[in-house]
Formats: sequence, structure tokens, C-alpha cells
Amino acid sequence: MKVLVTGGAGYIGSVVAQQLLAQGHEVVVLDDLSAGHPDAVLAGATWHHGDLSAAADILDSSFDAVIHLAAKSLVGESVRHPERYWHGNIVATLGLLDTMRATGVKRLVFSSTAAVYGNPLPDLPGGLITEDHPTAPINPYGASKLAIDHMLTAEANAHGLGAVSLRYFNVGGASEGLRERHDPETHLIPNLLKAAQGEGEGAKLFGIDYPTADGTAVRDYIHILDLAQAHLLAMEWVESGTHEVFNLGTGVGSSVLEVIDAVGRVTGKEVPVTEEPRRAGDPATLVASGQKAREVLGWAPQHSLEDIIADAWKALEG
Ligand SMILES: NC(=O)c1ccc[n+]([C@@H]2O[C@H](COP(=O)([O-])OP(=O)(O)OC[C@H]3O[C@@H](n4cnc5c(N)ncnc54)[C@H](O)[C@@H]3O)[C@@H](O)[C@H]2O)c1
Repeated sequence: MKVLVTGGAGYIGSVVAQQLLAQGHEVVVLDDLSAGHPDAVLAGATWHHGDLSAAADILDSSFDAVIHLAAKSLVGESVRHPERYWHGNIVATLGLLDTMRATGVKRLVFSSTAAVYGNPLPDLPGGLITEDHPTAPINPYGASKLAIDHMLTAEANAHGLGAVSLRYFNVGGASEGLRERHDPETHLIPNLLKAAQGEGEGAKLFGIDYPTADGTAVRDYIHILDLAQAHLLAMEWVESGTHEVFNLGTGVGSSVLEVIDAVGRVTGKEVPVTEEPRRAGDPATLVASGQKAREVLGWAPQHSLEDIIADAWKALEG
């Protein structure tokens, strides 16, 4: 297929593009480098340096699909500057949908997020968040992604778009040299690895009094290779006139202390950690049921937390 990958110079988009190329697809990347890296765009892809509005000049009826990862995605920034998220995520995606409608491109895979669920309900069966969990985002970032999900449902019903929203939980790991390079880096594993290298001010442990087994927050970590694979499966699976949502998680949670232990084991380094108070809006536990994606898409994540850390460490050490 001929596929437009928006955000293809970013962490997840670059690995999605890598897997598309490996499977013989034609890849066109659109990225404005607001958060991406030109060296993450692989040689086999065609790259357009531009904002999402440039999709109007790129897309035509020769394209089969769009995988839409370009977004603003910092929770704290979204609270301080919500307008950036309404424009950068909602309005920009509306423009992309207008272009897809005008050019007859009917397949879309969209990067959604666990942030659309807000604080999970207490007493979930097995503690797992399924796709029918109520959506109640607690920040403008999550609200902007949920608004796009609603747009996709309406676009599918009214104009025959085929769309899949993939709700990611915690993503980590690397694929060869393609690794997480966010600025600022707010994710636990890359920050622990930097601390293990002796860089930065050490890792911060936000909250040791959560109602979890060891008092630290529990999250569901998924390897970037497994996450990227779900995009290809969704792209092949999606049908015109439908919008489906899938949670991408392993169903197994790891606490911050467990991740810190695993980083110590994998790297063989002491990880300096300082204890800080809880951050506002951080739920105690976020673990996804990935059952729907397994059953419907045939998705089969292969990698463990240790694999995630080992691959991220290898990529960081170069
Ligand atoms: N990394 C995670 O843990 C995580 C979790 C849940 C959801 N997501 C979603 O996954 C997607 C990719 O995340 P990532 O971690 O790879 O982020 P990233 O910042 O590494 O990649 C996003 C890319 O999009 C580009 N971009 C942003 N706005 C753009 C615009 N208007 N026009 C063109 N390009 C633009 C950036 O330059 C960047 O290269 C995002 O939509 C994010 O919200 C990520």
C-alpha cells in the first residue's frame, strides 16, 4: 500500500515507517520537526518537511492509507496552553480529514491514548481497562484526542471513512537506532536510563503512598516493536464506514519500583532516585486489556519489560 505517515520523524512514527518499509509498503512521511528528528526518517521513505496542513498538497487518490501520529502530546503543556491542543490536534486533524475526504483516501489509523479514560473506575474486573470503560479525560491533551475519536466516528458514519483508534498506554524500548528522544522527556524508562548513565539530576519517583502493592504507581509497558505492529494490522483490517477503538496493552502492570529494579538488573548500574510527592492527575494504576486487539486484529505482543529496557539501553549506549 502507499501510506502517508504523519509524525514519521518522531519516536513511534519512525518505527511504524520502518515496519511498513520492511513489509514492502511505499511510505511518505509528513513531519514539521516540532518534536521529531530528521535522522529518524529512513532512507526508503519520501519525506516532506511541513505542518499537517501540507497534507493537502501531498495526498491524492494514489494513496491507500494514512497513519496519523503527528500531535502535540505533553500533558502539562496542554493544561497551561490548551489552545495549542485544540489547534494542533483537533483543528489540524479536521484539515487532514477534509483532505482525505476530498481525495477519496479511506483508511486511517490514529494514535489515541489511555489519557482519554482519565482516572480509571475503582474495582474494574481484573483491574483492566477495556474499550468500553467510560471516557472522562482530565486534561486538554486527553480531551483533544477524545474529540478526534468522536470526529472519526462521525466521519465513518457520514462519509465512509474506515478508521481505527489505537489507544496506547506506556510505550518503551527501541528498534535498532530508533529510540525515544522527547524534549522534555517525561517518560520513566528513558529518564531512568539517563540516570543510570550518570546524566541529569537522577530519576524522580513521584509518590510512594499509592494504594498499590509497593506504594508506587503501576503502569502497563509495551515494546515499541509490538506497538508498531498493531498499526500495520489495523491498517490492513480496517473497512470503510467503520471506526473501531483498540486498547494496546499487555494486561500486566509494573510498579515504578519494579521498573527501577529491572533497570538496575539490565544495565548493571546503580540508578539514583529521589522521592517526590505524587503528581496531580496521576492515577494509581493504568493497565489495559489488550484482548480485543488480540482477538480482532490478531495482535500478539512478544516483548517483556526486560526486553523494553534492554533495547532502549542498547540504543542509548549506541
Ligand atoms: N509515546 C507515548 O508513550 C504515547 C502514549 C500515548 C499516545 N501517544 C501518541 O502517539 C503519537 C506519537 O507519539 P511519539 O511518542 O512518537 O511522539 P513524538 O513527539 O516523538 O512524535 C510526534 C511527531 O509528530 C510531529 N508533529 C507534531 N505536530 C505536527 C504537525 N502539526 N505537523 C507535522 N508534524 C507534527 C513531531 O515533529 C514529531 O516528530 C502522538 O500522537 C502521541 O500523542 C504516545
